[in-house]
Amino acid sequence: MKKVLVTGGTGYIGSHTAVELLQNGYEVEIVDNLFNSKITVVDQIEKITGKRPVFHQVDLLDATQLDQIVANGHFDSVIHFAGLKAVGESVEKPLDYYRNNITGTVNLLESMKKNGVNEFIFSSSATVYGVQDSPEYIETMTTGANISSPYGRTKCFIEEIVKDYSVANPEFKAVLLRYFNPIGAHPSGLIGEDPNGIPNNLMPIIMRVMDGRIAKLQIYGDDYPTEDGTCRRDYIHVVDLAKGHMAALEHMQAGTQIFNLGSGKPSSVKEMIAAFEKASGEALPCEVGPRRAGDLPEFWANPSKAERELGWRTVLTIDDAMRDTINYLNKVKEN
Ligand code: NAD
Ligand code: WQD
Repeated sequence: MKKVLVTGGTGYIGSHTAVELLQNGYEVEIVDNLFNSKITVVDQIEKITGKRPVFHQVDLLDATQLDQIVANGHFDSVIHFAGLKAVGESVEKPLDYYRNNITGTVNLLESMKKNGVNEFIFSSSATVYGVQDSPEYIETMTTGANISSPYGRTKCFIEEIVKDYSVANPEFKAVLLRYFNPIGAHPSGLIGEDPNGIPNNLMPIIMRVMDGRIAKLQIYGDDYPTEDGTCRRDYIHVVDLAKGHMAALEHMQAGTQIFNLGSGKPSSVKEMIAAFEKASGEALPCEVGPRRAGDLPEFWANPSKAERELGWRTVLTIDDAMRDTINYLNKVKEN
């Protein structure tokens, strides 16, 4: 069975993927600088799986320490989640984003090259599509035009870096996974999304309204050209997303492959609020505010390539995600 280095493995998506890997017999080591996650996640992964991944608190910008981990690990594959991801912050601090995300990735690829590790999966994002003529995004669309933030551009640049590297190294096998909007938590309630600082995304904000840390949810505009006037996105349960990584790992081939990971079914902000209220049995305090700059009315994944080539598709719904999120919040409150 493969041995996998998971960068950003104590983070939201990385921790769920580490669980899936361990439960399917893969050996896992994690490297994370804990900038946006907590060391206790390693204990939670162990509680869920009965296996404790080796954990290295190391920054990918520290090339010397990173080299040591990669040299000693004898990894077959790397799944690269580590990165900064706050869209708004990236507009204010673009250089931090370029240094952390791009230099971190180049350091990682250099370490992999030195140590003969040739399988690489990268957390890309629907954001690389920018603005398109159709709201259903498919992998064959041209990327890179009208990307709304430096964060988004780091994803786009890294995709190009990976493609160039795999052209220069015919034995290199890369997969770029373009995630849509990940939500939900592990059904055990032991891991979930727990960002440090002020959250930016819809679900973490809803969670903070539920636990009382934010008074009410601001709906960013209800005058969009959609059925109920609010924006529509393709929300994907994080456990489905984690399973997408496993499917990719089982289908590695020379060159760079690209897959959307989404459900293909968009939901509006109002539908998300209704689903949350149904799962919690409580009204969610909210009010309609102005539009947020840069938001597109709607977009969703065409997920048919992943289904056809990886045999993967989403099975969980937004109702499952709401139930698991509330379970996670309740567990956090108990401890
Ligand atoms: P997260 O912040 O929960 O996890 C990222 C982890 O990387 C954190 O634990 C952080 O401490 C770590 N990290 C950051 N910079 C590092 C560095 N230089 N060295 C070592 N560790 C570092 O985020 P997430 O939601 O789990 O996202 C994982 C990846 O998926 C990110 O690359 C993100 O851009 C991408 N992505 C996320 C979403 C989303 O909405 N959550 C959507 C598309 C793509
Ligand atoms: C979802 C919807 C908001 C907060 C971002 C990144 C993207 C990707 C996923 C990483 C939108 C509405 C939100 C609030 C609201 N990340 N909303 N009130 O903008 O689709 O995508 O996260 O790659 O790159 O841009 O996600 O969760 O911020 O917003 O009404 O307080 O919820 O307008 O329609 P988004 P989001």
